[in-house]
Amino acid sequence: MSDLSPIDKAKFAAAKRATEYVEDGMRVGLGTGSTAAWLVRCLGEMVENGLKITGVPTSSRTAELARGVGIKVVSLDEARWLDLTIDGADEYDANLNLIKGGGGALLQEKIVATASDQMVVIADISKQVETLGSFPLPVEVIPFGWQTTKTLVEETLIGMDVLGRTSSLRLNGDRPFVTDEGNYILDLHLNRIGNARQLSLVLNQIPGIVENGLFIDICDAVVIGYGDGRVEVRDINEGTVEESRIDFLETENLFTDLD
Ligand code: 5RP
Repeated sequence: MSDLSPIDKAKFAAAKRATEYVEDGMRVGLGTGSTAAWLVRCLGEMVENGLKITGVPTSSRTAELARGVGIKVVSLDEARWLDLTIDGADEYDANLNLIKGGGGALLQEKIVATASDQMVVIADISKQVETLGSFPLPVEVIPFGWQTTKTLVEETLIGMDVLGRTSSLRLNGDRPFVTDEGNYILDLHLNRIGNARQLSLVLNQIPGIVENGLFIDICDAVVIGYGDGRVEVRDINEGTVEESRIDFLETENLFTDLD
């Protein structure tokens, strides 16, 4: 545990606190990314201790991890509807609107979160922003004609309330990064998104775009972890903010198991 960086401790604290949302018998959407990976490990430990849940992963990476820690994994089509999804985010604002997709899984993440009664984001405080857009906005595009789609996106951005208007194809080495759905990702360098709802709607009208990484009115609560174990839960529907603390010593097993 002491080997972990403060940021990893913060991610762990958020993930650990978020497990309190999970109840026996729930169908749970499992997010993707380093924070969500902590969640999956924590849930794995709870399953080992008798918790019964069904997990719907949002990527092949998460599916592999979830199976590895003993969580029963089913597809969204098998589960149909979920009680809860817990996932990370690249940015969240005061209304709990999000940018997601830094890990390239935004499409499954958005489908799964939308098919859930509740979505809880787990994050460290570095993900909090006043206005979305510093983090490049991921947009999933069909490989066919992607360069034309990129041009169309950049032309469309001229009429939008954003500060930057360039985009880049996400790479994996010197090849395009390919999503679980076989698509590419364009990262839009916008710096500031003045009207995220409008941008999301307009982007999704462009042929070739499958989905964008703006999550508007999807997230219900954010669990913010800090490196010293403090945790803050902000619930947008209840309008509440709750503070608590995770005791790292009580969770030593989880970290030892990682070695
Ligand atoms: C993956 C995502 C992740 O949730 C997001 O990138 C945050 O990742 P991390 O928890 O590693 O910071 O949207 O597509």
